[in-house]
Amino acid sequence: MFTIKDLPFGKDQLKGISAKTNEIHHDKLYAGYVNKRNEIEDALASTDKSKAAATYSVFRGLKVEETFNADGAILHELYFDSLGGDGVATGAFVEKATADFGSWQAFIDDLTATAMACRGWAVTAYDPSDNKIHNFLCDSHNQGGVWGTIPLFTIDCYEHAYFIDFGSDRKSYIASFMQNVNWSAVEKRWLAAQK
Ligand SMILES: [Fe+2]
Repeated sequence: MFTIKDLPFGKDQLKGISAKTNEIHHDKLYAGYVNKRNEIEDALASTDKSKAAATYSVFRGLKVEETFNADGAILHELYFDSLGGDGVATGAFVEKATADFGSWQAFIDDLTATAMACRGWAVTAYDPSDNKIHNFLCDSHNQGGVWGTIPLFTIDCYEHAYFIDFGSDRKSYIASFMQNVNWSAVEKRWLAAQK
């Protein structure tokens, strides 16, 4: 049973991102992924597995939507948990990203470009296979993830995340988003990832 996590900030607390956007985004869209994930788990428990087929089967449909809704919930939890801060970047994660990208600005430039180029998510993750931070491009919740990496930070680039407040101006949304990042939350995940 998966539970809906509360926002770690007040809905009207963010700079540039409105309470209305936060309400729709968290209470309706994010909550919907968590609820569907539970619904799918229940349905899978009672679905006839002997009829599973790659062309079409109820089981296949549920398995496809299982990853879509699981990743939809997880990516949104990372997104909301990284907001509510002052955007001031300090600490161990900043040092790590600076070392891996050559400068903090180079990391931000790569992250921003990833967020501008994606159709869904920019995901900052630690990859144990090269011991480095990467910004991955995901066009859908369940597309673009790299196995074995540990996600630390996400930017939701679906239009629902910004259209009410910024229209089609994704670049301004990303700039506002960055002013609200709680980098200490990202640092906590980075310190945990190293263990
Ligand atoms: Fe979203």
